[in-house]
Amino acid sequence: MSQSWILLVFLVGLSHCLPIWEERNVLLEEENSRRVGGNIVLGDKEVEADKNLMKIKNAEMSQAIRTGIFPPSMHFFKARVHIQQSKVFSILREIPKGGALHLHDFAILSVDWMVKNASYLPDCYICFTNTAGVRFMFSKPAPVGKLPPGCSEWVLLETYRKKLGDVTEFDRSLIRNLTLLTDTPELDYPTQDVIWRRFEGAFIAGAGLILYTPVFKAYIYEGLNELYQDNIQYVELRAMLPPVYELDGTTHDRAWLVATYRDVANWFKEDHPDFLGLKIIYTVHRHEELPQVKEAVHYAMQLMTQFPDTMAGFDLVGQEDAGHSLYQLREALSIPSKMGVTLPYFFHAGETSWQGMDVDENVLDALLLNTSRIGHGYALLKHPVAREISLRMNVPLEICPVSNQVLLLVSDLRNHPAANLLANNHPLVISSDDPSIFGAQGLSYDFYEVFMGIGGLKANLKTLKQLIVNSIRFSSLSPEGKDRLMDVWQKKWDKFIEDLAKKTWEEQQ
Ligand SMILES: *[C@@H]1O[C@H](CO)[C@@H](O)[C@H](O)[C@H]1NC(C)=O
Ligand SMILES: *[C@@H]1O[C@H](CO)[C@@H](O)[C@H](O)[C@H]1NC(C)=O
Ligand SMILES: *[C@@H]1O[C@H](CO)[C@@H](O)[C@H](O)[C@H]1NC(C)=O
Ligand SMILES: [Zn+2]
Repeated sequence: MSQSWILLVFLVGLSHCLPIWEERNVLLEEENSRRVGGNIVLGDKEVEADKNLMKIKNAEMSQAIRTGIFPPSMHFFKARVHIQQSKVFSILREIPKGGALHLHDFAILSVDWMVKNASYLPDCYICFTNTAGVRFMFSKPAPVGKLPPGCSEWVLLETYRKKLGDVTEFDRSLIRNLTLLTDTPELDYPTQDVIWRRFEGAFIAGAGLILYTPVFKAYIYEGLNELYQDNIQYVELRAMLPPVYELDGTTHDRAWLVATYRDVANWFKEDHPDFLGLKIIYTVHRHEELPQVKEAVHYAMQLMTQFPDTMAGFDLVGQEDAGHSLYQLREALSIPSKMGVTLPYFFHAGETSWQGMDVDENVLDALLLNTSRIGHGYALLKHPVAREISLRMNVPLEICPVSNQVLLLVSDLRNHPAANLLANNHPLVISSDDPSIFGAQGLSYDFYEVFMGIGGLKANLKTLKQLIVNSIRFSSLSPEGKDRLMDVWQKKWDKFIEDLAKKTWEEQQ
């Protein structure tokens, strides 16, 4: 019935020729209005700024088509140098970005600092694993008998470096250990399992340095600084809160870590009044068994009570395909609602290519568990019902394109599923997951991939503005906190727009 009606309209259209082409513009306009940011009405200055931005963007797109070099369709490790030369990228660096909502706490600071500063501190020991990895530990007296699995003897790094011919090359090898960077990602990382093992290895190697109390405090401060330099005003960190240790081997518990995050963030705010601070999402590894996850959920509720201004909620981390599904852990994850306690969830869900497996249903289960946001949600498009619920409940996805590409979910970012969600005004925020491990910084690289690759030619200033406003709206700040962040951001945005609107055509060349 309805099909024949459409056919009739089509034939009538054909017979007159003009009407369908008139309708074309209406349809395209409708598509424009449905995109993320499609309903935003830009002010006069913003219109000028948008024109300038789009001129620069279009020039880079034409150049990409001419040369065949289009960074979003290349592996990030190879695309990086091209992105750094992009004018669009330099504008995206300047753009005030609001909140960075999906970051893991030990992957926010460029590893150069870890190697050049942290590993040069006194009393730093290294051991070499039988799988070509390294482990670090600060200790005084020398650590005896505390060898990690598969490790050689501990050697004092200072002594070891003195005996080396080429310290620079050695330090470069340490940087490789602490990141996934390589010139030949296709060869080094043939499967998701291989890259996830290396990925977790990089975390374990880095942890030995970061978890030493003086380094830990400096790491948080410098990490916030790196994000601040990328024009980020507020941060939410996923944190596993492992024991932080002193030189004599004594350790601090999870509550100490949260208090330290709070205190260091406060020092940083004193030095940078236009930074709004951080919140912590306590996380546990999804390979843990039910009793451990139950313990973690109880502990998360306790931390929420103890640090109501610093704690945001709870999440599970680690390779989704290899861990327990949310459904398998439902007994632990329903504890707060059974007790009538609010524990906001920020579940990683649907970070998988496997369709129909247990973990593939995590997107639905995350929503049933009343998650506040979904980390990645890469699989959401395969679940129309979950997609509708996410839209209806206004639960945003945290899109991390560089991470998804490096961890082998998608190779050409033009084909990222978020392209569909962006075109359909789904609630989204942009984040970077583990920038330091991927050789990125802050959020700018991920914004570039979204603006140029996932969003294509139609993504414009409205798209960017909506995504950034979303990062404020969907943060776990209190309503007053959101207002303050919005005020600080708006001032920076107005200044940014002013500058971009003034750019002359010569400057853009
Ligand atoms: C790192 O070390 C260098 C050289 O020792 C020093 O100049 C710099 O201030 C240090 N940076 C930080 C963040 O501590
Ligand atoms: C890690 O560092 C060790 C020691 O220098 C080196 O032998 C190994 O190749 C490094 N691993 C990577 C992945 O570069
Ligand atoms: C869902 O989560 C929100 C935010 O954390 C909370 O306010 C609300 O009470 C939760 N609802 C249920 C049914 O748990
Ligand atoms: Zn993550």
